[in-house]
Amino acid sequence: MVKFTVEDQDGNRQEVEAPMDMGLSLMEVLKASDYPILATCGGMALCATCHVEILDGPSELGEATDVELDQLENLPEYYPTSRLSCQIRISDELDGAVIKLRGEDVV
Ligand code: FES
Repeated sequence: MVKFTVEDQDGNRQEVEAPMDMGLSLMEVLKASDYPILATCGGMALCATCHVEILDGPSELGEATDVELDQLENLPEYYPTSRLSCQIRISDELDGAVIKLRGEDVV
């Protein structure tokens, strides 16, 4: 299991645990944890509603790929540390990271 912190749209932080051996994406784990993430495209890097910002985390998490940037650039705002959570695989690189939800609030 890997543990990281999620900050929701209201600024509330909570620790989330996710299994590393199931090939899940961060988006799938956030949805399963009942966070309000639309993920309209189902993880195809086509909708950007799974937008998150990596507030703190190891550099191994890397920067947004070109595929992600294509979507992020369509948003009203995004940040140098913005990522599409559907494009991040759960791995030990997420350990201790702080993830801020930036996607649309659907509650
Ligand atoms: S779920 Fe659509 S871009 Fe990530």
